[in-house]
Amino acid sequence: MSAFYVTTPIYYVNGEPHAGNAYTTIAADVLARYHRLKGAEVFFLTGVDEHAANVYNAAKEDGLSPQAYCDKMAPTFIKLWERLNISHDIFFRTTSDMHKRGAQKFLNALYANGDVYKGMYEGHYCLSCEEFFPEKELTGEKICPIHQLPLQWLEEENYFFRLSKYQDRLLAHIHENPDFVYPAARRNELLHFLESGLQDVSISRASLSWGIPFPFDAAHIIYIWIEALSNYITALDYETESERYQTFWPADVHMMGKDITRFHALLWPAMLMAANLPLPKQVVGHGWLTKDGEALSKTRGIFIDMDADIATYGVDAFRYYLLREFSFGNDGDYRPTRLHARYNADLANDLGNLLNRVLGLLNKNFEQIPAPTTPGEFDDEIRAMAQTTIDQLDAHIAAFAYDSALEAIWKFVRRINRYVQQTQVWTLAKPDTKPRMGTILYNSLEALRLISVLISPFIPDTAEKIQKQIGLEEFDTVTEWGHLPTDMTVSRGEPIFPRVETQKRKRKQAKPKGADALKQKAEKKTSPLVSFADFQKLDLRVARILSAEPIQGADRLLKLQVDLGTEKRHLVAGIAEHYAPDTLIGKQVIVVANLEPATIRNVESQGMILAASGESVVLATPEADVPLGTQVR
Ligand code: MSP
Repeated sequence: MSAFYVTTPIYYVNGEPHAGNAYTTIAADVLARYHRLKGAEVFFLTGVDEHAANVYNAAKEDGLSPQAYCDKMAPTFIKLWERLNISHDIFFRTTSDMHKRGAQKFLNALYANGDVYKGMYEGHYCLSCEEFFPEKELTGEKICPIHQLPLQWLEEENYFFRLSKYQDRLLAHIHENPDFVYPAARRNELLHFLESGLQDVSISRASLSWGIPFPFDAAHIIYIWIEALSNYITALDYETESERYQTFWPADVHMMGKDITRFHALLWPAMLMAANLPLPKQVVGHGWLTKDGEALSKTRGIFIDMDADIATYGVDAFRYYLLREFSFGNDGDYRPTRLHARYNADLANDLGNLLNRVLGLLNKNFEQIPAPTTPGEFDDEIRAMAQTTIDQLDAHIAAFAYDSALEAIWKFVRRINRYVQQTQVWTLAKPDTKPRMGTILYNSLEALRLISVLISPFIPDTAEKIQKQIGLEEFDTVTEWGHLPTDMTVSRGEPIFPRVETQKRKRKQAKPKGADALKQKAEKKTSPLVSFADFQKLDLRVARILSAEPIQGADRLLKLQVDLGTEKRHLVAGIAEHYAPDTLIGKQVIVVANLEPATIRNVESQGMILAASGESVVLATPEADVPLGTQVR
């Protein structure tokens, strides 16, 4: 059995965990779950970094001893990971004895190699980064370029690590192992940094008391980054070089945000080289989550309200949104309206409705899952697509392209929706067509079972719910077509993603007052009658959506291009809060084709699409595919 070791950073406990920490941890969780699914023996490490000066200060402010403060804060991380369904194998604390002993052994190894010496240190220090900033990186004011907080001047005798000695080996390693640092942008930043020359780094503090003492000089404590990085081996019990250590080191993936890639891809490997230990295989620095385009910041009150969104949409929707919406290497702006749109479009509509529909038809027409006795049109295509979807996932996961992985799975979900539609399976209940009906339903349900396996690393709760509703008692992870047993009773099926109305999302908003309230009342009244002749003036046509894109500065609007059979047109639709753009492509809709054009946000809208528009907005689509341009009367 192959081994797979994935880590998150250990998070500072100077505050409760936030959505940025959650993002990294969820991303690592997907890898752990994916590799378990593939049969690997996985070790997934997460934990907390407790000996930092910022933790010491936070404890002081809280009136607690540092240890008591850490004991209070560490559980807030554990609680969040439980809530987010994180499947870590260890929650590691750096105040544990195992870590203390391991970190000291690691320091001894560096010392024994002659790479540690005593010297004087002075410089501008950021308490939040736990890092010195060279004069050349600072402009006029001595402010941390990352945290925008004042830097402290620090001067003391320290132990140093000969980082400069490893410059050439590091350069060679990064050149020879193009996948060592991911993504390419981060790798290029590092190469650039390396070329400007590496300086030795101070690795001890004499001025601080909160930390692990140097093994060969108790007047110093180990500099936090050296101590923290060593957690990746101390958590495997490096001290005794136990079986766990033998099995899992070197790590397969160190997952983190872009802010700390440099520590992991330069300092940490250099220290491992000095201790004659193998290097981790990959260091992955993902982009940052922002809110309204700004970096998350506790001091500036910029945060993502995870609690509210999870309470409204559920944990899996939150996980799905983070993984599906953003391209992993890049920054991503967190927007509750987009989470809402993804929930309703991808989860409730595409996946939830498909499951409900198939289970509903099965329950209505069969006692048990029928055998697929009667092959017909589209079946081979469906089966082939199942295989290609499965085959694509390895490559997407290897490239940390969570968004592409989910997109590939959802293409398949939508294909099955179309299969149900194209075969008009609900019309096949007559005796002579019933075997074909049974086959189509078997295939659809088998597709859903496979989908549940494929989504299980991303949204594990949903995967389990689907299999339970199918009637499987134990989670079936087999990714071969045809594994679904027949002669099994399926459950009635509860909606796995009940629609969340815009109203509920906006529940915290004030009730309408004055003119708005009057307007809402007026809207409730029935409309005046129109003559048939007036109605006939409307030219309603079936069109297919070719493309959909957001409109800058307009959260509610999408710019669509539609094909009316004889011509293509652009139009603007107020559906961005309800549909993610890529879920619209290929959908048939009904367009008012003879509406006067209007310019909205600099886009000429040449028509209007129809939608049921109450508390939620649902597009009106023909019941089955029809030729484009067909008139609707
Ligand atoms: N304790 C160090 C890490 C030591 S690892 C040996 C540390 N801790 S931290 O609490 O500041 O966590 C930083 C990590 O949190 C980032 O690398 C990233 O994984 C995550 N994030 C923090 N803010 C983030 C965003 N705004 N967006 C995404 N991830 C972010 O640094």
